[in-house]
Amino acid sequence: MANWKMNPATFREARKLFDETKKLTSAAQGVSIVVCPPAIFLRELATGQRAGSKIAFGIQNAHFEERGSFTGEISMPEAKDAKASYVLIGHAERRALGETDEEVRKKVSAAITANITPVLCVGEKSRESGEYYDVVREQLRAGLMAVPEKKVSKVVIAYEPVWAIGAAAAMNPREMHEMAIFIRKTIVERFGDAGHKVTILYGGSIDAKNAADMLQNGDVKGLLVGRASVDAKAFGELVRAVSLA
Ligand code: PGA
Repeated sequence: MANWKMNPATFREARKLFDETKKLTSAAQGVSIVVCPPAIFLRELATGQRAGSKIAFGIQNAHFEERGSFTGEISMPEAKDAKASYVLIGHAERRALGETDEEVRKKVSAAITANITPVLCVGEKSRESGEYYDVVREQLRAGLMAVPEKKVSKVVIAYEPVWAIGAAAAMNPREMHEMAIFIRKTIVERFGDAGHKVTILYGGSIDAKNAADMLQNGDVKGLLVGRASVDAKAFGELVRAVSLA
């Protein structure tokens, strides 16, 4: 998943970044790409994309109410109408701006209702205190609280340790493997076997050099990529590194 965050500055640049991304990833096999551009660019970028093509779209945030007096917000049905099939929920940068577990929980439910795949982002701020498993368990508990058992397999979990976002290096894949086991166990404890079907992604300083190792050894199905996704060449290299072709 390509999280462009608040980049680039103009639609013209966004178009160029998207077209180059498309070109540079067109030969890849066995890779699905989700581009999450700034919401204001979403519909226009998505227009003309063939259904069933390798690239789908996501929105970086959406509100939990369907409509109403919420100045500046975008609802899940509106995001869906603008061609988003995924929504990032509870990204660390949004939690840092004050997004609460309660809002995250409501957003996960609203996404499921609107038939958009929720990508629930979890991750501890640091590892100093040694309580990081508790932090992740609590974020999972709160975020998934209102999800019915038969819908849990629709949720994607993006584990992003905050200390590895925008950092110099990604987490060690071996540690990710341990965390993936913990996340799955936590979800299975609450939801039973359906929890085994939940897709887990890793995010935080992923690039062309570390992506394949993380996918092979980190027990994750995909990657949430920030900086390396707003540079088409870097993203193309990353996708090539994990492609089966
Ligand atoms: P990064 O961002 O790849 O630039 O570390 C990841 C993210 O915040 O999703």
